[in-house]
This record gives sequence, C-alpha cells and structure tokens, in this order.
Amino acid sequence: MILIIYAHPYPRHSHANQRLLQAVKDIPGVEIRTLYELYPDFNIDISAEQRALEQADMVVLQHPMQWYSQPPLLKLWIDKVLEHGWAYGHDGNALVGKDCLWVVTSGGDEQHFALGDYPNFAALAQPLQATAIYCGMKWQPYFAVHDTFTCNEPALIAAGEAYRQRLVQYLLEHGEAAAEQEQAHG
Ligand SMILES: Cc1cc2nc3c(=O)[nH]c(=O)nc-3n(C[C@H](O)[C@H](O)[C@H](O)COP(=O)(O)O)c2cc1C
Repeated sequence: MILIIYAHPYPRHSHANQRLLQAVKDIPGVEIRTLYELYPDFNIDISAEQRALEQADMVVLQHPMQWYSQPPLLKLWIDKVLEHGWAYGHDGNALVGKDCLWVVTSGGDEQHFALGDYPNFAALAQPLQATAIYCGMKWQPYFAVHDTFTCNEPALIAAGEAYRQRLVQYLLEHGEAAAEQEQAHG
C-alpha cells in the first residue's frame, strides 16, 4: 500500500498538486490523507496517523514548497507523529524498511534554487531525507515539479502521468495484483 501524506495549506486553490493527486487517486492500493482537511485546527490525531503509516509499504510526502521548506502542518505532523519509541529510539522501529518518496512542487524553476552556500535543489531534500533514514526508511529518488508559476496545462498533465507511472511501477514491483491488471490493460 502507498500512503500519500498530502499537505497543501490551500487545497482548493491548488493547480499543480491537485493535478498530481487527480492522476493517482484511483490507483488501487493508494491512500491519500489530506492533512489540512483532516486537521484544520492543527490538532493531529497521532494514533490515527501512526496506524495509517503502519499499513504502508511506501510513504509519500507531497506538498508545495514554501520558503524552501514544508508547509507548517507537515512539519508539525513530522514532529508529533514520528514519536520516540515508535519511529526511533528504544523499540522505535515502526517505519524500518518502508520506502519514503518526497513529491514536491515549486513555483520557481531550477534557477530559483541557485542561492546561498548550497545552491541546488537537491540540498533541500536533506532534512526530510535524513529524517527518513534516521527512522530506518529507504529514501527514494524524489519527484519534483518545478516552474508551476508558468506551467501550462499540458505540462501539468504530463507531470501527473509521470507521477501515476511512478506509483504504478512501485506497486507492480511490490506484487500488487491490482496494479498488474491496470498495467496489462494499459
Ligand atoms: C507562503 C508561500 C511560500 C512559497 N515559497 C516558495 C519557494 O520558496 N520556492 C518556490 O519555488 N515556490 C514557492 N512558493 C510557490 C509554491 O511552491 C507554488 O505556488 C506551488 O508549488 C504550486 O502548487 P499548487 O498549484 O498545488 O499550489 C511559495 C508559495 C507560498 C504560498
């Protein structure tokens, strides 16, 4: 099962992330948790989140980039849900062996990230990547959609198809019969 943890502060105003979700939401074996709808008051149900994570083979963290980082509810989600004794520390092995995929959209293009002492986009993956590895997860090559300020509809549709292909391929490789059927029927 693939669990998408989706954090968009203004989901109804989204173009890019909405297109991406539309492209994958009907894949059998994909579950989406929309954090800003589940927790508009930021009062995260830690047990519910942990139970959902325990079911997942791959955890997808999907969000728009905000100030070179994650929206605040996703950061809070990480702080609250990845508890000591559950995600790390003594007996904290709930996430060990699961895959982790970062799916991020950015308004800027690659040039937008050519700032500071670590001027490339991949450097921004470091906090999430280190967090995932610290919890024993297997970090996957991230899926980024840049230039959403100027992105036209065909580009967003192509990004959605690539995202879908990525998730279907994962399910195929992990022996999900439903995905195999989808692949067989094109
Ligand atoms: C508060 C805020 C901060 C943002 N910071 C960045 C940023 O640092 N870099 C960037 O490329 N885009 C930034 N953006 C633009 C969003 O990443 C972009 O609008 C979003 O990825 C588009 O996806 P959507 O259509 O699903 O909203 C920011 C947007 C907001 C609202």
